[in-house]
Amino acid sequence: MKILAIETSCDETSVAVVEDGYKLLSLVVNSQIDIHKAFGGVVPEIAARSHIEVMLPVVTQALEEAFAETNKRHMTKDNSQTSNVRDLWSQIDAIAVTQGPGLLGSLLIGVLTARTLAWVMNKPLYPVHHILGHVYANWLTRGEWVVNSGEGKPTTTHQSLPTKAPEFPVLALIVSGGHTQLMLGTDHENWQVIGRTSDDAVGEAFDKAAKVLGLPYPGGISLSKLAQNGDSSAYPLPTPKVAEKYGFSFSGLKTALLRAVQKECGKTHDFPSFELAALLNDVQKANFAASFESTAIKYLVSKTKLAFEEFKPKTFILGGGVAASLPLRKALSDALPIEIEYAPQILCTDNAAMIGARAYYQMQSEDPIDPRTLEVKPSWPL
Ligand code: KG4
Ligand code: ZN
Repeated sequence: MKILAIETSCDETSVAVVEDGYKLLSLVVNSQIDIHKAFGGVVPEIAARSHIEVMLPVVTQALEEAFAETNKRHMTKDNSQTSNVRDLWSQIDAIAVTQGPGLLGSLLIGVLTARTLAWVMNKPLYPVHHILGHVYANWLTRGEWVVNSGEGKPTTTHQSLPTKAPEFPVLALIVSGGHTQLMLGTDHENWQVIGRTSDDAVGEAFDKAAKVLGLPYPGGISLSKLAQNGDSSAYPLPTPKVAEKYGFSFSGLKTALLRAVQKECGKTHDFPSFELAALLNDVQKANFAASFESTAIKYLVSKTKLAFEEFKPKTFILGGGVAASLPLRKALSDALPIEIEYAPQILCTDNAAMIGARAYYQMQSEDPIDPRTLEVKPSWPL
């Protein structure tokens, strides 16, 4: 069962072909980081326009790469291709697309593309929840693949995937720019959120903390890089407190960092926060980054450990953009009494392969949706 999957919930235009829910035949991720860098964050209108520009080339590239071997057989002596797009499409069994949550304009481009292709190519269409996609990135297993930047050049070569699929019950910690939640899955159809953030997502907090420290977009990654050279005990920050046993809160931690920076600079809260970074030297910045990162990680790990002890899952999985954080992975591996296989970093940030993996399991129990009626769901609680 080969699924062509499309993901455009934020600022990545991604298309993948996934076979039987685990085998990655191709993955193209066209990032808009360079476009949004100048603005210090994602500009929704610009993101949507960029999705429109690259959507069809990215679809074509993912198809061509998935069936490169078949393609070769169609090459003529002068290397011009005789296989056409319809030959490639004949090998696809279904289409999957991120329906939400995400940016309205961005989602619309992916969903409209999927609807049109499903209609014209006469393929069943499956809408996928973005967060379940992040969970199912961990079902992409057994093998290696080459990821492509969307410009015809591989950006990363031959990363290896986890060796085996997660076993239920599964405890999942999903940490992204828009979500922070602990989830428990008893089978593919039953996923329950056991705790979520009541305010900022952890990725959002990383991004905002990075802004206070004057670090370039994308902030979470910049902060994490800088933290490697810092002393995490330099500025003790308070661990957030929430009433819910498995709930999270990150806005207080972000404010605590801001207050600590103000104090270090000898400024009060009426001083413009965007001017604070210029008053810090490199060592202070690295120490703030390390202190923030370690507090956030300790907090995530302590709640996860608590949930692990109560629910005793067979597998623990980590998903979402912040799952790319190596210190977070190490802290979880040290804290949980179980062997954890992490997905490669490229499959933790937004990508279409995870959408194709999740769609395969939906296909086992759900009917496809009418391509004429599928609508986007910018906010869609699980
Ligand atoms: O899942 P994702 O790609 O997009 C959303 O669905 O939100 O997550 C993006 C988030 C951003 O907030 C980014 O700063 C954060 O993941 N992130 C990181 C790291 N890499 C990405 N945060 C901390 N450390 C990292 N290494
Ligand atoms: Zn995401």
